[in-house]
Amino acid sequence: MGRPQRRWLVALCGLGLVAVLVHQVALPACLTNTTGSPLKTLRMGEVAVDRDIPLIFIGGVPRSGTTLARAMLDAHPLVRCGEETRVIPRILSMHSHWKKSAKESLRLEEAGLDDEVLDSAISAFILEVVVRHGEPAQRLCNKDPFTIKSATYLRQLFPRAKFIFMVRDGRATVHSIISRQVTITGFDLKSHRQCMQRWNMAADTMNRQCQELGANWCLRVPYEQLVLHPRTWMERVLHFLDVPWNETVLHHERTINKPGGVSLSKVERSSDQVIKPVNVDALTKWVGSFPEDVVRDMAELAPMLKTLGYDPHANPPDYGRPDPEVDRNTLQVRAESAAWRQRAQQILARRKRSRRAGRPEQKL
Ligand code: A3P
Repeated sequence: MGRPQRRWLVALCGLGLVAVLVHQVALPACLTNTTGSPLKTLRMGEVAVDRDIPLIFIGGVPRSGTTLARAMLDAHPLVRCGEETRVIPRILSMHSHWKKSAKESLRLEEAGLDDEVLDSAISAFILEVVVRHGEPAQRLCNKDPFTIKSATYLRQLFPRAKFIFMVRDGRATVHSIISRQVTITGFDLKSHRQCMQRWNMAADTMNRQCQELGANWCLRVPYEQLVLHPRTWMERVLHFLDVPWNETVLHHERTINKPGGVSLSKVERSSDQVIKPVNVDALTKWVGSFPEDVVRDMAELAPMLKTLGYDPHANPPDYGRPDPEVDRNTLQVRAESAAWRQRAQQILARRKRSRRAGRPEQKL
């Protein structure tokens, strides 16, 4: 080898060394993920977290018992869900708008934002929010009702994620939305008819997503059955999630705001209900609250009732008999209603204070 070639070889080796050093020293917090794109290392305690994490997503039409389901899971010592993040469904909905618009998709592609870049960025965002908004735990879960509308995309981002789809008799859900004046985009709180139609659309979209994932990845949990038979259903849920059985899930109310237990938001609309043990008081409150013409047209207005196993002509349908432990809970909740009201008022008072302090009531 002549002198000029040797010089070139030395220069090349030097460059290679500099490149390695820059990677090792200047970018210590970077790693390459399975798709080949750079990702900041996210840690939960000592453990590095990436898209292979077996996340749990709980969703459903709001007012379908989603908070109760997450509280029961949150009570498990190995699982942490936490409060609604609100930003996760928003980023998912933005992504779905971009994808639906051919013009927007083209603009993103032309700007170098192909699916790989977007997926990497959105998954990093979701992961960071899920991991960092609460305590570390062996299994992390997220409950933002509308995420289930993007279940297939979420599974693409997180291939080991599993989904709990909470369903409830749409008439009870709509009664809850209207009687509690829960503002949800697209729901007209003055019209039972329009709300039933909106419920039908949302339930249909969610159900299709769940069906597309299949039974290994998405479990449909009827609220009525969860509250009538909590042991049977929580056994089913934990088995589906590969989480070992623990009795604490049947007593979520004992772990409210305790370390490792159920952390409750002062501003979520279900906090004052979920502080109570599992009870059947909300099952049939809707009966008699719908205008006659809506009751008459129910099967046509909301065909998803039948699809999900609810008889649209029965007012109410026979949901079944509660287990003895649920009967006891319900009697206890009724007998000590004043104490529960007081506890709920404390939570509501805190909620009103935070509203007065300038934080608006949530819109779902
Ligand atoms: P109602 O408004 O009909 O009372 P979500 O959390 O998805 O918004 O669902 C709210 C519904 O879950 C509420 O229905 C509420 O009563 C019910 N729920 C919350 N905690 C419960 C409990 N401990 N036992 C039974 N139902 C409960």
